[in-house]
Amino acid sequence: MQYIEEKLESKTADYARALKSLQEELEAVSYYQQRAVTATDSELKDIVGHNRDEEIEHACMLIEWLRRNMEGWDERLRTYLFTSAPLTEVESGEGGKAGGSEGDLSIRAIRYSELK
Ligand SMILES: [Fe+2]
Repeated sequence: MQYIEEKLESKTADYARALKSLQEELEAVSYYQQRAVTATDSELKDIVGHNRDEEIEHACMLIEWLRRNMEGWDERLRTYLFTSAPLTEVESGEGGKAGGSEGDLSIRAIRYSELK
């Protein structure tokens, strides 16, 4: 494990492990996706496509761990995930449903308007 700071507390070291693992899973998704698209043998194409989907699952597990454990993830994920609004408009509440419930969107919209 490579750290940019010495003597990290264990919690921060675990964050670094999870983030590095997420990076590795995402790289694997990209590799398998490229192989799935370019493989000429149909069975190999299926295998690497299956592997890509497994790596997506691994990445999702790490994102969920980060959401549960590292400050900053839960709020951002609730804002940006599972919305159909344009992503550049989600944070301001200009888009459609965001934050997992209408209540969250209302609170966010009020806060945004208070900043103006
Ligand atoms: Fe993996």
